[in-house]
Amino acid sequence: MAKKLFIKTYGCQMNVYDSARMVDVLQPLGYAPAESPEGADMVILNTCHIREKAAEKVYSELGRLRRLKNEKESAGDGRMTIAVAGCVAQAEGEEILARAPYVDMVFGPQTYHRLPEMVAQASRAGGAVLDVEFPVEAKFDHLPDHQGPQTTSAFLSIQEGCDRFCTFCVVPYTRGAEFSRDAASIEAEARKLVAAGTREITLLGQNVNAWHGQGTGGSEWRFGRLIRHLAEIDGLDRIRYTTSHPRDMDDELIAAHGAVDKLMPYLHLPVQSGSDRILAAMNRQHTADDYLRVVDKLRTARPDLALSSDFIVGFPGETDADFAATLGLINAVGFAGAYSFKYSARPGTPAATMEGQVSETVGNDRLASLQQLLGEHEAAFHHTKLRAEFPVLFEKKGRKPGQVTGRSPWMQAIVVEAPETLIGQVANCRIVEVGAHSLHGEVLTGDIRTEKACA
Ligand code: SAH
Ligand code: SF4
Ligand code: F3S
Repeated sequence: MAKKLFIKTYGCQMNVYDSARMVDVLQPLGYAPAESPEGADMVILNTCHIREKAAEKVYSELGRLRRLKNEKESAGDGRMTIAVAGCVAQAEGEEILARAPYVDMVFGPQTYHRLPEMVAQASRAGGAVLDVEFPVEAKFDHLPDHQGPQTTSAFLSIQEGCDRFCTFCVVPYTRGAEFSRDAASIEAEARKLVAAGTREITLLGQNVNAWHGQGTGGSEWRFGRLIRHLAEIDGLDRIRYTTSHPRDMDDELIAAHGAVDKLMPYLHLPVQSGSDRILAAMNRQHTADDYLRVVDKLRTARPDLALSSDFIVGFPGETDADFAATLGLINAVGFAGAYSFKYSARPGTPAATMEGQVSETVGNDRLASLQQLLGEHEAAFHHTKLRAEFPVLFEKKGRKPGQVTGRSPWMQAIVVEAPETLIGQVANCRIVEVGAHSLHGEVLTGDIRTEKACA
């Protein structure tokens, strides 16, 4: 009988991708995914270190797992192996083992291809396994093929780590130096996904548009070239990518937004702040004006492009005037969506010891007014789509019987009344109602690709 494996994933899409690949690595060892940690033979927490709250969650979850582990063992039901993976593991490996000695394995984002050795080592009694080095070999060269369930929309990591060292950010320390996979291995993985039924691929990297690597002909490619190449895959309908740095939006990539229909007109381009003083202190290496110019070029290339962004309020030294500049930038761009955070001091990062740490109250107030403004922009964007007609990629059943849901080209959730056979297909829809969290549509045509094929 298969051993039960439960993985809980925190943090960004790269962790979601890594968790799926951990399943691929563990499957040959007899593990199969389970719905809950109760009674599981192995539980992996794939963790995030980006803000203090995210990191602290791990220790409370570990307390709960310790009870489940004891219950399983005292019921004579065998052992529960507990593992901590991901960015907290990388940053605090030793500390985890000291605080939670019942943990059996701790490994970072770059070593999970070695899970078979780790599992063997952990099963030989005598202490926990800690593997948080940055190995010379790339995990991608050692991972088995995707085994996971087929999904209409899938993630594909193409770039790892980050060399930008924004002063608030832990990623360069938890994921290591920037690394790009070569185009041939990315293409092979994309083709396998599409052969299994995937129609949309989101290319992932912490700084994905810094991707550069060996092209299929041997020459050096940049990211725009890779996108054009992947767009040639038959059966792949939609390409997205995340997350990008404004400094790496080069002209070739901007041109791809105009030239490649499959590249969806929605771009997550974090700016963090609208104040040049704060951007400099953050080591973002661009000004607010540089950002606005990139946005202009993108919109010239692709007029229907919508943007989303990340913001941090309360960065050390942020004054009311700096914060006002952020609100000004938001009004100048008009974002369709955004994530916003109160600055969280992270151990080991330069900003953590900067002068002028902003108080909780000021941070909370700024976050509330920022989110108010961003919410208004988001609602305004959704309303521009009322009565509009566009293709929707349907992904799953809706919450109510008889409904299916999918995504607009701009990542909006679209709900329609239609049979489940629409799942996995692209259909033209008209929007009839704009709700708070989704748009309601009606289907105008069936699968666009099938129709084209018939024509
Ligand atoms: N690689 C991406 C961001 C990764 S982290 C990029 O360069 O944009 C995702 C978001 O978390 C960041 O964009 C930032 O807005 C937020 N973030 C990162 N570190 C943070 C910190 N110390 N405190 C608060 N928010 C933070
Ligand atoms: Fe962090 Fe900056 Fe790198 Fe993004 S670009 S991962 S925010 S250091
Ligand atoms: Fe978190 Fe690591 Fe992703 S810190 S945001 S899981 S890269």
